Amino acid sequence: MERVVPTVLDVPTGIVTLADAIGAASAAPQFLKGMTCIEDLRQAARRRVPRVFFDYLESGSYAEQTLRANSADLERITLKQRVLVDVEQRDTATTILGERVALPVALAPIGLGGMQWADGEILACRAAKVAGIPYTMSTMSICSMEDVAQAVGKPFWFQLYVMKDRGFVRALVERALAARCSALVLTVDLQVLGQRHADVRNGLSVPPALKPRTILDIASRPGWAARMLSAKRWTFGNLAGHVKGEDSIKAVADWVAHQFDATLNWSDVDWIRSIWPGKLILKGILNVDDARSASKAGADAIVVSNHGGRQLDGAPSTISMLPRIAEAVGSEIELLFDGGVRSGQDVMRALALGARACLVGRAYVYGLGAGGEAGVATAIEILRKELSVTMALTGTRNVEEIDGRVLN
Ligand SMILES: Cc1cc2nc3c(=O)[nH]c(=O)nc-3n(C[C@H](O)[C@H](O)[C@H](O)COP(=O)(O)O)c2cc1C
Repeated sequence: MERVVPTVLDVPTGIVTLADAIGAASAAPQFLKGMTCIEDLRQAARRRVPRVFFDYLESGSYAEQTLRANSADLERITLKQRVLVDVEQRDTATTILGERVALPVALAPIGLGGMQWADGEILACRAAKVAGIPYTMSTMSICSMEDVAQAVGKPFWFQLYVMKDRGFVRALVERALAARCSALVLTVDLQVLGQRHADVRNGLSVPPALKPRTILDIASRPGWAARMLSAKRWTFGNLAGHVKGEDSIKAVADWVAHQFDATLNWSDVDWIRSIWPGKLILKGILNVDDARSASKAGADAIVVSNHGGRQLDGAPSTISMLPRIAEAVGSEIELLFDGGVRSGQDVMRALALGARACLVGRAYVYGLGAGGEAGVATAIEILRKELSVTMALTGTRNVEEIDGRVLN
């Protein structure tokens, strides 16, 4: 167990409402019953999570054009209303990489999940298990993969960043095998970091550095702070204890800052393919050429993704690229999709344009910040209900029936 008193401060912005105080004191489900859409969860998370971490969640890189395009382009796609079709029996279940899932949705890898809510990775993985969908653990998680494997007991997906220290990468892959992870999600779009202005301004660090602004920020979120006192960890669980030489929090943070590898290339993908015997998913593919290369490299699936608008600002929205990628490689490998998915209607749009399933990032983390495990469960349930109703109103009874015909 590692715990350090936080140290970067920020000006508090939200007001702690009575509902928040009650929600923080109880296990939160009652408070969550009033949440009707992902935006409700977002507003609750904004009030409950310290600003430094809420901003980290919300931000895109630079001018945030790509971040906005992801949602805006999804919203522009209109669905075809169908009537007089018997849709009483509907089924949202499908398979992803041969795995039966209750919904065509998986939880995306999110760094610092345990800073949105204490032990956030364990809670999100549990909620995903109960809902019957995959959870992806980020390399940059606060809980370690062993923490989650032990606490949840159901295989999850592990997301890998290839770092300069290839020995460490190999060790991570071996740990993911030992933790019985059911797929490896290799992220290929973060060889250098796109700048997020808010994180620079807020002095984001893990654990938060204690400056007066951060202390005020954290003090204005007493429920968050109280829960953090009993958190398993306060730093990157997958990395701590494995950084050569030192094991101090600062040593781990410095090591991470210098480990993203700009030399990352297709031969590294071949190497990962050779040491990972299970399902391999390449995440961060945004054009046809790279999609073809991913297929040739032996990936079982790709995630059409621009990292939620957090990397190349000015890149196209993911939904605008999905159809041509689907046309090029859709018959060879499974296509997963992410970026801007905030509703069941968005899931329907992505499936209609060729995705097998969607990864959701911010949509579930808003739930996590709003109410821990129950909040994630609420987010997934909102998406499930919206998808089910959207299927009914487009005359679709099961996920296999969703294709271009549900679009106008
Ligand atoms: C706060 C945050 C942290 C993220 N951390 C990671 C990460 O550690 N690894 C990764 O592959 N992608 C990461 N992503 C990208 C997501 O996996 C996903 O591609 C993106 O969130 C999808 O967009 P959406 O948030 O609009 O659903 C992160 C995204 C956010 C918002």
